[in-house]
Amino acid sequence: MTVRLKTAILISGRGSNMEALIEAARDPGYPADIRLVLSNRAAAAGLASARAKGIEAIAIPHRDFASREAFDEQVSRELEARGIELVALAGFMRILSPAFIRRWAGRLVNIHPSLLPKYPGLDTHARAIAAGDKEAGASVHEVTEILDGGPVIAQEKVPILAGDTADTLAARVLEAEHRLYPQALARHASAMLERR
Ligand code: GRF
Repeated sequence: MTVRLKTAILISGRGSNMEALIEAARDPGYPADIRLVLSNRAAAAGLASARAKGIEAIAIPHRDFASREAFDEQVSRELEARGIELVALAGFMRILSPAFIRRWAGRLVNIHPSLLPKYPGLDTHARAIAAGDKEAGASVHEVTEILDGGPVIAQEKVPILAGDTADTLAARVLEAEHRLYPQALARHASAMLERR
């Protein structure tokens, strides 16, 4: 039987990348087994879609905690209580504390809607269009203490077309994200499994 890493997905909203990962992980040969979806927002639509797919999904509202560190500590506790080995951020809109990032170093990945190292942070599509770029895309990367600055695992490019707005470009990039993230998470999980 294939060894699979117990994996959690952290979200804040819609969760379309989360859905792509859950779908990919339905294949018993996929090296990441999605055990938990965790959101810092109780209203995140992705919580309901994860539950509908039979995945445990919980909200830990960050406003319930006095500090970023206290919130992150609770997230780690929930992950560790379930033996989680790999964490995938998918539209998780919280900056994580250095302590959390160190605790999960090498086991924490994110998807970002730009061709990193270009455009870390927010408003990536508007910035790519304003710069006159001919292509945009998505990156999956390891999370380090540098925001959107960790080693890139995989990227997919899409063209920027005449007349694109931030919204039309975002939609094209999102389709690429849904292809890229399952492949990149599998690559990272397999590399982790080979090392142990
Ligand atoms: C995606 O564009 C992702 O790259 C960014 O936030 C968006 C999340 O979308 N970090 P979804 O919640 O996965 O649908």
